[in-house]
Amino acid sequence: MPNSKVFVTRAIPADGLALLNGQSEVEVDVWPDMLPPTYEELTQRVRDCAGLISLVTDRVDAPLLAAAPNLRVVSQMAVGFDNIDLAAATARRLPVGNTPGVLTDATADFAWALLMAAARRVVEGDRFVRAGHWKAWHPTLLVGLEVHGASLGLIGFGRIGQAVARRARGFDMRVRYYNGSGPVPEAEAASGATYAPLDTLLAESDFLSLHVPLTLATRHLINATALAKVKRGAILVNTARGGVVDQAALHAALTSGRLAAAGLDVTDPEPLPMNSPLLQLENVVIAPHIASGSLQARTRMATMAAENMLAGLRGDRLPYCVNPEVYG
Ligand code: GLV
Repeated sequence: MPNSKVFVTRAIPADGLALLNGQSEVEVDVWPDMLPPTYEELTQRVRDCAGLISLVTDRVDAPLLAAAPNLRVVSQMAVGFDNIDLAAATARRLPVGNTPGVLTDATADFAWALLMAAARRVVEGDRFVRAGHWKAWHPTLLVGLEVHGASLGLIGFGRIGQAVARRARGFDMRVRYYNGSGPVPEAEAASGATYAPLDTLLAESDFLSLHVPLTLATRHLINATALAKVKRGAILVNTARGGVVDQAALHAALTSGRLAAAGLDVTDPEPLPMNSPLLQLENVVIAPHIASGSLQARTRMATMAAENMLAGLRGDRLPYCVNPEVYG
């Protein structure tokens, strides 16, 4: 591998950095701050690099790629890559890697954490206790919705949607899914989920959980029209991308009672500004995009991102490449 400089846009877990640092030909430049580099800083730092390890916070667009003529690999430490202009990368035959599979279970676990927290008002209860409002047990205090036996509608049925479905078996739920590319019969037996059209899921599910990538086709998939079809009192969980939901429509549905509650790991934008009306609502649980954030998953993601990077720098095919047509 020729001498190669790699910019890593934040301190990723140590195992990944160690893999990069273990290669004498690789010069590793790590952005040290908790906050990401600005777009200008990123453009500046990547200018003379052969590799970029990016995160979901980094906008990797055509002008940025054009400003980095020596770039040979973009390796994203995430499964989603909507922050990257894939067409621009592909046009210059630049392979882009991602980290699928290793965060599936952590993300599915967290979708369940949000679902349960929203249904049973866990975070609201915590706020209530800490504020000193808990004076006595009361029959109607913070009553929520039952999870077991309810119907779960999964919008998107890839790896993560299927993992969420498998967990629902333990709660005796009726699980149906909608998938943009159609039914996935081979995954139905293991998960117990069956295919349904989107409108059926919206109208009949007690819980809706989003598991689609953010693309032109899925931006604002859950808009005012979709929310008007939702079963009154349903709960929406989003661990996909904030842009899949029209947030103004979501706010309206949460205040009108169309939705009983929501559990969000992702918002649009991120971070959510402190004056966002969503933050005024008691019936929303919001997490700061941490669904893949188990120690194990993040370690595996960092390792995989480093492995993708090293393969690309050597001129080998990336083990996990989202634009394999660059090898055509
Ligand atoms: C996280 O959001 C990811 O796409 O991995």
